[in-house]
Amino acid sequence: MSQQSSESKPSQTWSQRFETALHPAIAQFNASIGFDIELIEYDLTGSQAHAKMLAKTGIISAEEGDQLVNGLEQIRQEYRQGQFQPGIDAEDVHFAVERRLTEILGDVGKKLHTARSRNDQVGTDTRLYLRAQIQEIRHQIRDFQGVLLGLAEQHVKTLIPGYTHLQRAQPISLAHHLLAYFEMTQRDWTRLGEIYQRVNVSPLGSGALAGTTFPIDRHYTAELLEFGGLYENSLDGVSDRDFAIEFLCAASLIMVHLSRLSEEVIFWASQEFSFVTLKDSCATGSSIMPQKKNPDVPELVRGKTGRVFGHLQGMLVLMKGLPLAYNKDLQEDKEALFDSVNTVKACLEAMTILFQEGLEFRTARLNEAVTEDFSNATDVADYLAAKGVPFREAYNLVGKVVRSCLAANKLLKDLTLAEWKELHPAFESDIYDAIAPAQVVAARNSFGGTGFEQINRAIASAKQRFQQG
Ligand code: ARG
Repeated sequence: MSQQSSESKPSQTWSQRFETALHPAIAQFNASIGFDIELIEYDLTGSQAHAKMLAKTGIISAEEGDQLVNGLEQIRQEYRQGQFQPGIDAEDVHFAVERRLTEILGDVGKKLHTARSRNDQVGTDTRLYLRAQIQEIRHQIRDFQGVLLGLAEQHVKTLIPGYTHLQRAQPISLAHHLLAYFEMTQRDWTRLGEIYQRVNVSPLGSGALAGTTFPIDRHYTAELLEFGGLYENSLDGVSDRDFAIEFLCAASLIMVHLSRLSEEVIFWASQEFSFVTLKDSCATGSSIMPQKKNPDVPELVRGKTGRVFGHLQGMLVLMKGLPLAYNKDLQEDKEALFDSVNTVKACLEAMTILFQEGLEFRTARLNEAVTEDFSNATDVADYLAAKGVPFREAYNLVGKVVRSCLAANKLLKDLTLAEWKELHPAFESDIYDAIAPAQVVAARNSFGGTGFEQINRAIASAKQRFQQG
């Protein structure tokens, strides 16, 4: 594309008010075409709706309306076939489309922008884009949840140490652990659905800021574009970016959840934990240490989380000092949004593949891990408490037992019945069953707990919610 020098005449995009063209560096600085081309399909769809409305209201003739709609469709085909590649001189996607339309249609093309501004246009495009992306992300969340649910069903009886403070606390079912992520992502899915309602509102027809002198029909364009409602106030319509911030909040929370799970996979895959084996299809080697197999996928997910948080923060700061209505600062919303959308989608896809086929839980190692520690200590205290010993007294007594076991390099299961009885006469031979890991897990049958009965209930409930929508 040819670059303008500062002496050349301005391009015809702006009014004749301008005598000289933009300085080339400023043109470059001002342009958004390098990234807002991402919006082109939505821009074309939005413009087609606008053209139909202009014809329906008699602002242009029916024939002109048809010509505009068809011309825009031709640009869509040209773009899809790689023939329409506007350069920097087009400034942004909106000007690029209008210019091409005028090349195709002549003067009729110049009628497209009647009763519209780029301000309501870009707001419309961004909402149409985000609306589609939200639906895609929600589908991806469902795919990931499907994999989590499948694994949970397989691993109801697989035990894994449960942690608090990253110290072994109580054994749990691996399914319980996986289902915790089902619940987090279920909130993500629901949250995106709620945000969708507020994204799906039409600003089209707000004009530059104050509406328009033409007898437009905003309800008609909103209906054509399948918006759920209309902005009530034109100033708000062109300058609101709450919908983008809300999306970035939701995107950040998705990333929080994926990042926490990633962190767990990273240590589960370490030699110290050895709870999972990474398959070759989802792990990478080191350029120098031949023995290494690195968890790059979860590490990248954890790392990319920072980008999305950064975009959220960036958008909040972008908005905080903006007076009404449109300000060019708002052009900065797009890269934040696009990069967040692309990052979330890439991370959801990678994590789905990782859990579907990239890692294997080492069930024998996991079941064994829960027998090598004192994570059944609470159950000894509960055992005594169930026999009428006040819980705090039982708790103190078990603390002493753990201390003496540690000194003798023994586990609780190694104590003889005589030793138990010496500690407290209430102990009977059923203490051994009570502290066996599977029983420790099974016994936590309170609603939402890790007991196997609860897990089966939780899986059924998750499946039911999974099938909705
Ligand atoms: N490229 C611009 C943006 O993304 C389009 C709107 C321009 N509006 C204006 N008044 N200069 O925000």
